[in-house]
Amino acid sequence: MDQSPQTIPHASVVAAMDAALAAARLGVRGANPLVGAAIIAPDGTAITGHHAGAGTAHAEPTAIRAARSAGIDLTASTLCVTLEPCSHHGRTPPCTDLILETGIPEVVLASADPNPAAAGGAQRLREAGVRVTTGVREAQARALNARWLTAVGERRPFVTVKIAQSLDGRIAAADGTSQWITSAASRARVHTLRARADAVIVGTGTALADDPRLTARPAAEAAETSEAEITQPVPVVVGMRGLDPASHLAQDPRTIHLRTRDPRSALEDLKTRGLDHVLVEGGAQLAGALVRADLVDELELHIAPLLLGDGLTGLADLGITTLADGIRWVSDPVEPLSDSAPNPDTLLRLSPTPAPTKGS
Ligand SMILES: NC(=O)c1ccc[n+]([C@@H]2O[C@H](COP(=O)([O-])OP(=O)(O)OC[C@H]3O[C@@H](n4cnc5c(N)ncnc54)[C@H](OP(=O)(O)O)[C@@H]3O)[C@@H](O)[C@H]2O)c1
Repeated sequence: MDQSPQTIPHASVVAAMDAALAAARLGVRGANPLVGAAIIAPDGTAITGHHAGAGTAHAEPTAIRAARSAGIDLTASTLCVTLEPCSHHGRTPPCTDLILETGIPEVVLASADPNPAAAGGAQRLREAGVRVTTGVREAQARALNARWLTAVGERRPFVTVKIAQSLDGRIAAADGTSQWITSAASRARVHTLRARADAVIVGTGTALADDPRLTARPAAEAAETSEAEITQPVPVVVGMRGLDPASHLAQDPRTIHLRTRDPRSALEDLKTRGLDHVLVEGGAQLAGALVRADLVDELELHIAPLLLGDGLTGLADLGITTLADGIRWVSDPVEPLSDSAPNPDTLLRLSPTPAPTKGS
């Protein structure tokens, strides 16, 4: 940890960083890391902000805006951020410029930015005379974005897998029928997920069975929004077989067909095309291969209150034969997919954890 002296008690800084970490968790996983910020006002109170996903304001401007609205004197405040502020022009202007413009004299960081294009923010602030401390709650901040950091390090996109399944884990009935297992509310959520992803991927099995379009359609409540107004994800099919030339995906000029069964090389290929967040919508074999290769960063299950008995499971061929080899996941708070009341589907959002130690 950088030992630059702080002007406020270390315990207050740690408490504010904890508040920033809690704010970060309110964000959306995907192309960008989860980031939170907290501004410690001269009276010691902390005002937080978080980054709500790619293309939206970063955590620092959000917190600064909130502090300004509350009339806080920023020239006598300390900014705590869970990730080094960016110093480059991405989809939003550099946060370092805004911080310097506010006159905030002191910035505390939890972790450095591993992205070479965005790094260098701490250095830029120091050069401009801001007192910068690093490494406060670093382990917690790195854990928060462990999967995102892995994806960046592996030069592949962040991978979200969505599975619509029955209570007994089936994604299709024994006769292959699968439309629709989940409710209209769950399917509306899929369109929200698609709209925030750079690409939507299926295996050739799903492409041939379902003839999907993989576009993000507007929510019913945004009826005035047309499909063309949504930034559409790139449709991607993975697998060796050819597509039906009359299918929606074959007819879509943007479709990328990766003729491979190697999920890692497929993802690396997509990353080189500038696709940073992909949503995988199945089917069982492709999703199973991704889990087996530890390439799933976020798993979203939409679970309908429905039993199908025999049928296709959502994740094929995981190769697990004994409990000790099971793959454990950490769940966000469970939510109902509520428009389908009185019998809503359940939304489970999960992040992987390392497999439990043998014998535990
Ligand atoms: N409820 C849901 O959420 C949901 C979502 C999607 C699909 N489905 C249902 O799932 C069924 C299709 O399932 P599926 O498992 O056949 O579909 P899939 O995973 O989409 O496609 C399987 C095919 O993908 C190719 N492939 C690419 N990479 C692979 C890899 N690493 N390992 C194995 N195969 C790979 C192989 O075909 P090649 O021979 O071409 O290489 C394989 O036969 C349909 O009934 C569909 O309706 C349900």
